[in-house]
Amino acid sequence: MDSHGLYWTLWMLSCFGQYLSEDLQFSGPANGAVGESVVFAPDNPPSTSVDVVQWNFGTTTVVTALPDSTIISSAYRDRVHFDNKTFALELQNLRLVDSGIYRLTVIPSTSHKLTGETSLQVFENISNVRLDGPEESLIEGESSANITSEGTGNITSVQWMKDNSPLSPSNSIIFSSDNRSVSISPVQRSDSGEYQCTYTNPVSSETVKLSLIINYGPDDVSIKGEDVVDLGVRVSLSCSANSQPSASFSWKFNGSDTGVTTDTFIIDQTDFTHSGDYECTALNSVTKKSATQKHALLVKVGGGGGGGEEVEEG
Ligand SMILES: *[C@@H]1O[C@H](CO)[C@@H](O)[C@H](O)[C@H]1NC(C)=O
Ligand SMILES: *[C@@H]1O[C@H](CO)[C@@H](O)[C@H](O)[C@H]1NC(C)=O
Ligand SMILES: *[C@@H]1O[C@H](CO)[C@@H](O)[C@H](O)[C@H]1NC(C)=O
Ligand SMILES: *[C@@H]1O[C@H](CO)[C@@H](O)[C@H](O)[C@H]1NC(C)=O
Ligand SMILES: *[C@@H]1O[C@H](CO)[C@@H](O)[C@H](O)[C@H]1NC(C)=O
Ligand SMILES: *[C@@H]1O[C@H](CO)[C@@H](O)[C@H](O)[C@H]1NC(C)=O
Repeated sequence: MDSHGLYWTLWMLSCFGQYLSEDLQFSGPANGAVGESVVFAPDNPPSTSVDVVQWNFGTTTVVTALPDSTIISSAYRDRVHFDNKTFALELQNLRLVDSGIYRLTVIPSTSHKLTGETSLQVFENISNVRLDGPEESLIEGESSANITSEGTGNITSVQWMKDNSPLSPSNSIIFSSDNRSVSISPVQRSDSGEYQCTYTNPVSSETVKLSLIINYGPDDVSIKGEDVVDLGVRVSLSCSANSQPSASFSWKFNGSDTGVTTDTFIIDQTDFTHSGDYECTALNSVTKKSATQKHALLVKVGGGGGGGEEVEEG
């Protein structure tokens, strides 16, 4: 090894030597909820007999265990359990101030001192999460909608779903910088659905839901029914529209109101006066928009007989 390599090795040792000497391993940092418990258990406690086991939190000694006695410091007396076989420390009734580094020292009877450390982060449970959405009716292309969330506890992440898929930002969907509110502007009919907001931290989560209905239309008004019919038959013209809420309908014949306000216009038995233009108007009471579609009906002069009749009558 050249001298450069040697210095490198010495530098590495001086920097990381303390970690190399951590012989007691823990599975990873622990998280706990205020009021709950946590257990710190070394993965590899020594199997040989030991003289002293000690747990420290910062400069505070939590537990000192000797072969014939276990001393729990008075500050922890009613909320600590120490297992003298596994050296596991259970800390109960957690408080936010319990967050920090916990250090375990074990002095075996016949070998050098063993140490290890683990860390704890205590979180306040998430609670009282709620969503506030727009009060007024939302109209496609005109309204904007803000959904805001609120909640208590240590919130580490806020996530949104819509109809059980992640909600992503877009030109019209904007998240606040802390993700706690979403602004949709302008709203489109595809924004209708169930919005779900989840507040999460490592120890708890809470999800709340809110439904949005975007009003739109009427669009695509259409009339289904006969064009050309014989005398004396029943005719049913049915009008439909794409609309939220459902449209109401009204019918005109040759430009005059018919008084019919159902989606279907029925002629029980056709006569010649039924030929002409039928016009269905769909009205959305929320968007205040309406749209119209026309349908021409021709009552045929059925063969010679029908025509003759008309002539005779005239
Ligand atoms: C170790 O724990 C057991 C069971 O909890 C107890 O009976 C025993 O007295 C403890 N030993 C010491 C040295 O504290
Ligand atoms: C939604 O929030 C944005 C930004 O906070 C605001 O400018 C807008 O007026 C809000 N819209 C409604 C409908 O409250
Ligand atoms: C948790 O919230 C409390 C106040 O509610 C705060 O003092 C503490 O720093 C927070 N902890 C974390 C990890 O954010
Ligand atoms: C907001 O949420 C997005 C994805 O939903 C995530 O990528 C981003 O990190 C979050 N921002 C904050 C501040 O939580
Ligand atoms: C905290 O939340 C967890 C998980 O939801 C729950 O099991 C626990 O009872 C809660 N603790 C308190 C003190 O509310
Ligand atoms: C309705 O209009 C059609 C076409 O303009 C016309 O032929 C028909 O006579 C009219 N019918 C009535 C009852 O006004």
